[in-house]
Amino acid sequence: MEQPARMHEWESPDYEPSLPVSEKSNPLTRDMDRASAKCIVRMLQACDAQMFQDGTGTTYQRLLSEPVLETLTEVAKKVEHILKHPRDSLIVLSGCGTSGRLAFLMASAFNRALRELDHGLVYSYIIAGGDRALLSSQEAPEDDAELGVLSLQRACEGQKSVLFIGISCGLSAPFVAGQLDFCLQHPEVYTPVLVGFNPTHQARDERIPGCSFTFRSVVQRMQELAKRGGAFVVNPAVGPEAISGSSRMKGGSATKILLEAVLSAAHAAAFADTPITPMGIREDMSVHEKTLEITYAQAKGIGALLEAAGQSLRRGGRLCYLGWGSLGTLGLVDASECVPTFGAGCEDVRGFISGGYRALNNNEGPLGPDFSIAHQDFLHQVLPSLTDRDVVLLLYTHADRVGEVAELARAAREKTSNVHAVYHRVDGDTAAAVQQDEINRLCLSSLKFTWPSPASGISPHRWELSTKLVLNAVSTGAHVLKGKIYQNYMVDVQVTNSKLYRRATRLLQKLSGCPESRCEEALLKAVYRVDELTADITSSDIIEHAQAARSATKAVPLALVCLLSDCSLLEAGTRLEREPIVREALEACLS
Ligand code: F6P
Repeated sequence: MEQPARMHEWESPDYEPSLPVSEKSNPLTRDMDRASAKCIVRMLQACDAQMFQDGTGTTYQRLLSEPVLETLTEVAKKVEHILKHPRDSLIVLSGCGTSGRLAFLMASAFNRALRELDHGLVYSYIIAGGDRALLSSQEAPEDDAELGVLSLQRACEGQKSVLFIGISCGLSAPFVAGQLDFCLQHPEVYTPVLVGFNPTHQARDERIPGCSFTFRSVVQRMQELAKRGGAFVVNPAVGPEAISGSSRMKGGSATKILLEAVLSAAHAAAFADTPITPMGIREDMSVHEKTLEITYAQAKGIGALLEAAGQSLRRGGRLCYLGWGSLGTLGLVDASECVPTFGAGCEDVRGFISGGYRALNNNEGPLGPDFSIAHQDFLHQVLPSLTDRDVVLLLYTHADRVGEVAELARAAREKTSNVHAVYHRVDGDTAAAVQQDEINRLCLSSLKFTWPSPASGISPHRWELSTKLVLNAVSTGAHVLKGKIYQNYMVDVQVTNSKLYRRATRLLQKLSGCPESRCEEALLKAVYRVDELTADITSSDIIEHAQAARSATKAVPLALVCLLSDCSLLEAGTRLEREPIVREALEACLS
């Protein structure tokens, strides 16, 4: 007899009941701030494995639940239809932060596949804040529903049929809510699809300034339309993030797994007559369970890399990703997320891609000197001052120009012994063995992943997910080792939009035990750097507070020290200067 699936702690209705899954803290990573590099990797592995757990016996739909597979099948058929009738039709993927970056990655990858087939391009992406948001944090536009609508209208000008895929892991971003609402108002052109990772009743229900709807009310209208096939809601739960609320991790991975399965199935149907079935989609997604296994089979190597990166950041060094092809893009994405996630400096973690903007192929092209991303930029701007304190991580596959990798490894090795590599190859491939040997000799550590040959259905997308997991582990783990995390919370989070503002207030409540009003007051004092709140400040709305917070560093740690020690901002600032490791500063206050 089949055993009923075991309910995991986070799935219990009593576990942090006021929070949606995407904001809950993960019981598996509670002690992450005190863990060794090796243990951090194990924790991340266990957290990622939750993506594929069975939800039987709980109220949650999961990635491989029947209703989710059915909906994905229907969406894939819509994509197939557009691929077969591309005239005046478009598939738009849109999101904020990581969700927008994944929209970009997938639109680029599947357009590339179409180009190879000499087929017209049908994919387009939108990211809140425009292309700069691909490389840096632009969180304020996330709150702007009207901007979402304008960018959708601009992307779809002249189109008669649009499949709109809005991604919001937390079912929360007003930018995406505005776009979905617009689609619902124009059903003759738009079919909306929502992708996120909370049950619909946990969608954000906060009023959006200037709008008559909330994210939740939009979802409810979509659910009504979904009954008639006019809209689709894909929202399996994948469990709380390893670092609470950090949806760049599982949220991003699950978005990639799920949308790639849909788009791949649609391409196979349109160009190879393979029927789209829930079973086929299930198989495609399940392969990624194996991707996780193959990746974390090298937990020891990932741990060593994480340790090296952590040591480097602790000593004021830098972590540089030098990547090729889509792995280069993943490096850019991971690096861009460290600033808002960990309060990191722009130079702490940086990504560079071979071919620069030509390879990135983004809508807006080169974004100016503040956004230098080519290997040439690395050679001119970073290499001259590189030392042993810095870590260089090469990200490439056997299909890339391995000679170029060796050349860069040589250049970096002259400045730092801390050169490492993540290398993917397909089973049986022995090309460029000599250069590969040289790279191995130059690198302090090399993670080599060998994937089954493409004949067995392993596409390059698998090494993309694998690289994403490794990079997320390295950058997250390194910041944990640097002391940026308290338990499994990002304490030094910038409160640059309404979601982050609310999250910060909740965190202050949780860690200080003070009432909400006192926590909000402390946060505002830290944001505006005043000991007394003025009427001007208290009468401003969250959007204005979030704007002010753009220039307020360490606002949350400052507010927390004030609350815990009942001291002035000045005194809190001095304490944090004395003990810049946030976790230790807080523990000193708590003890
Ligand atoms: O507000 C910042 C952020 O939390 C990013 O970290 C995240 O990628 C983005 O918002 C989008 O969140 P969601 O996918 O839930 O809309």
